[in-house]
Amino acid sequence: MVKKTKKIYLDYAATTPVDPQVVKAMSPYFTEKFGNTMSLHNFGQEAKQALEESREKVASLIGAKPNEIIFTSSATESNNLALKGITFANRKKGKHIIISSIEHPCIMESAKWLEVQGFEITRLPVNKYGFINPDDVRKAIRKDTILVSIIHASNEIGTIQPIKEIGKICKEKRVYFHTDAVQSFGKIPIDVNKMNIDLLSASSHKMYGPKGAACLFIREGTRIEPILHGGGQESGLRSSTVNVPAIVGFAEACKICKREMKKEAQRQIKLRDKLIKGVLRGIKRAYLNGHPQKRLPNNTNFWFEFIEGESMVIQLDLLRVAASTGSACSSLKLEPSHILLAIGLKPEQAHGSLRLSLGRWTTEKEINYVLKILPEVIKKLRKISPFKAK
Ligand SMILES: Cc1ncc(COP(=O)(O)O)c(C=O)c1O
Repeated sequence: MVKKTKKIYLDYAATTPVDPQVVKAMSPYFTEKFGNTMSLHNFGQEAKQALEESREKVASLIGAKPNEIIFTSSATESNNLALKGITFANRKKGKHIIISSIEHPCIMESAKWLEVQGFEITRLPVNKYGFINPDDVRKAIRKDTILVSIIHASNEIGTIQPIKEIGKICKEKRVYFHTDAVQSFGKIPIDVNKMNIDLLSASSHKMYGPKGAACLFIREGTRIEPILHGGGQESGLRSSTVNVPAIVGFAEACKICKREMKKEAQRQIKLRDKLIKGVLRGIKRAYLNGHPQKRLPNNTNFWFEFIEGESMVIQLDLLRVAASTGSACSSLKLEPSHILLAIGLKPEQAHGSLRLSLGRWTTEKEINYVLKILPEVIKKLRKISPFKAK
């Protein structure tokens, strides 16, 4: 009988499993401590206390004050709140917003929507590694600029932006600075004060917490309007009954990430670099997307000549390895990734890309297995490729 290989998950950038310690922390909040945080009775107060303790834990991961954390249901919501909330509250000052050309679709699409409402958007280019030049930010800021929003670390190519420098420029120019830190939060150190960040989005399900919880850090004194109106929860900035179990889980995930971050980053960097070296050495006409070092500890992204990304993902899936061609949210689209195009890849090159993202339970044995099977997968696909090398 052929021994079945265990499934290997290398798509941690899309979502992560929930840490068992997180599940344990959440458990009482479904059946025993299920109260509504707005209720005056004991059930409500118990839930309220858990909410405020969670706020402290999340805030402490990024050097924020607890009252600067607003809980939301997803980073998509946090990013929408940041962009729409800031622009609408500050539209008397100006109507100009700056973003990068490699933002997540929830920023790109919110910006597009704001354009329809009469705001003006500047989309900054990136270099071949996916870096924004802080000088470009400085030059793009105008008298009527109200917000700069730049992703901290790319969900596709892992590039980590010079956020501190960009934040410093925004501070000097008195422009609000927002960063989408969904992929970096809990993985690399973030200090909102040292990095001059006014608003920051993060999501629980990317860092071993449950889906349905996320946050927006909003610096004290920031002028922002809600996008959800109702019962006035979350300081009036996010009306909705609070999802206490998910938030408790998010906070527990933050606690674990804070404790494990240094050790875990070092471990993943070793595995990441082994994977990168192995792929580039073992497969001809294979290239790395993003910077060799200035990237997330868990991110690898390659492009292979004469290959089509989806077929790679399907072949790998048949061999029980879960990978991705781009971000999960856009991988069902047939257009090439706007991020890969922005770093200079041609559409056919972007289509031949593969993201393997590592996580807390990735082992060296799994990386060795991928290094063993991937050259075979590529060889097989190139044999049947219509774009074959001459
Ligand atoms: C960089 C980035 N921003 C935002 C999001 C959206 O997060 P959520 O799934 O919590 O809406 C994602 C998810 O893929 C992401 O990677």
